[in-house]
Amino acid sequence: MWRVKPLDQILATAEKKSLHRSLGPIQLTLLGIGAVIGTGIFVLTATAAQKAGPGMMVSFMIAGLVCAVAALCYSELASMVPVAGSAYTYSYAVMGELVAWLVGWALILEYALGASAVAVGWSGHITGFLDAVGLHLPHALTVGPPISIGFVHGGEIGGVLNLPAVLITAAVTALLILGTKESATVNAVLVGIKITALTLFVIITLPLVSGHMSNFHPFTPRGWGNPLDSTGTGVLGAAASIFFAYVGFDAVSTAAEETKNPQRNVPIGLIASLAICTVFYLLVAGGAIGAFGAQPLIDAVTGKFFADGSPELYASAACTGAHAPLVCSKEALAHVLREVGQPFFGNLLGLAATIALPSVVLLMMYGQTRIFFVMARDGLLPKGLSAVHPKFHTPWIITLVTGVIVAIAAAFLPVGSLADYSNAGTLFAFAAVSVGVMILRFTDKNRVRPFKTPLLFVVAPVSIIGCLLLFFSLGMESKLVFVGWTAIGLVLYFAYGFWKSNVRHGIVDDVDLDDGAGGLPPS
Ligand code: ALA
Repeated sequence: MWRVKPLDQILATAEKKSLHRSLGPIQLTLLGIGAVIGTGIFVLTATAAQKAGPGMMVSFMIAGLVCAVAALCYSELASMVPVAGSAYTYSYAVMGELVAWLVGWALILEYALGASAVAVGWSGHITGFLDAVGLHLPHALTVGPPISIGFVHGGEIGGVLNLPAVLITAAVTALLILGTKESATVNAVLVGIKITALTLFVIITLPLVSGHMSNFHPFTPRGWGNPLDSTGTGVLGAAASIFFAYVGFDAVSTAAEETKNPQRNVPIGLIASLAICTVFYLLVAGGAIGAFGAQPLIDAVTGKFFADGSPELYASAACTGAHAPLVCSKEALAHVLREVGQPFFGNLLGLAATIALPSVVLLMMYGQTRIFFVMARDGLLPKGLSAVHPKFHTPWIITLVTGVIVAIAAAFLPVGSLADYSNAGTLFAFAAVSVGVMILRFTDKNRVRPFKTPLLFVVAPVSIIGCLLLFFSLGMESKLVFVGWTAIGLVLYFAYGFWKSNVRHGIVDDVDLDDGAGGLPPS
């Protein structure tokens, strides 16, 4: 189980596939921003507000910082091993099969449940937009069922099934089976729409901030948070959730095989997309707090803060009345604009999110199918899963399986929980990459490192500590989901992958797919 897939073999496979190298630094940065800006900022700003209040601005900074150091570690590996499979592939080469399997298994949480979270975020926007134009979908079919057991909260009273989220997932699945890859041009247009929407938000809200400085007090109504308690609240708890808003930048590293001069351009793409998003997020959070306020709601009956996204929160008088506070909204930014007297721009922003979010679902589901594909190709999952459709040349069985998983999770689970589960998987993968890059400095000293992480032995430990800090700051529910998921993964590995692995049998990659490497085709 400690057997590694030799780096040279991975690179030779990549060489053979020789995808057209067409992406430059600007396209890569756009690819990163396209995959990153989504439900996190458009929806989870409300969750962060209930967890931390105005202190969520610090949460955005902490989450961005952890991503930045993780991205620096990613960059060294992505430039050394510019092939598909991202964290999974890197781990296979460095830390052996078991770790690689666990990372790949955790990436299912990241990508599949991440896609579900974005689909639910999309559902909130399409529902809100249709409401605004007078088309009211039945409540029961737009939100998941209410859950309120122990520390598990979500859904809404009267909710049955999130139908819009299921429908968008089905549509994206169909597109992926037909072989749709978002072209670089479509991505650039969608990035333009998202950046314009966020810029509009900032232009409208920031001038209102100076008259409402009191909205920033108290700044940390729920404290700084404690990674050792089970609540997942406070500034750190919000950082752990809002981390979702930054996830996706690793789409850049998976496109390394299609990048011109990946050695230089991949790190530029990763860091530039992250930096641009961080600046926007801080401005947006500051604007939302200042212009409208972001204090968490207290339950009048118990005198305690509501759990974020709980059925009780949504059923409270504040959330059901007119002019609901930020924490009640499922389309946080659109809601703020409507409430500060700009309903037209609020609806426009909602429309922008409705148009742009499906591409984030597509990118995440695409990433998931390719990771499944590489794992099946390596023999760790049944090879039959990687069957390629005769006509569409896509891994259609894997895509269908992914679609079903994403749709079921999106139908019944609330966006905040989905994002938190996704984060747990991502944080594990990032930590593994950060460990791997340090190990490689010792075990493979002489390999050319086109991009060397500066101060690696400071940056990587900071990344690992940051990932652990955020992981433990998640609510108990998400930590347990991660532990349970990993346990299932271990059982599956020893029941199947351990015996069937290609590396065990000395088989060099035998199944291949034209576009197995992921990423975008040229426009
Ligand atoms: N970062 C992406 C989003 O917020 C996943 O939707």
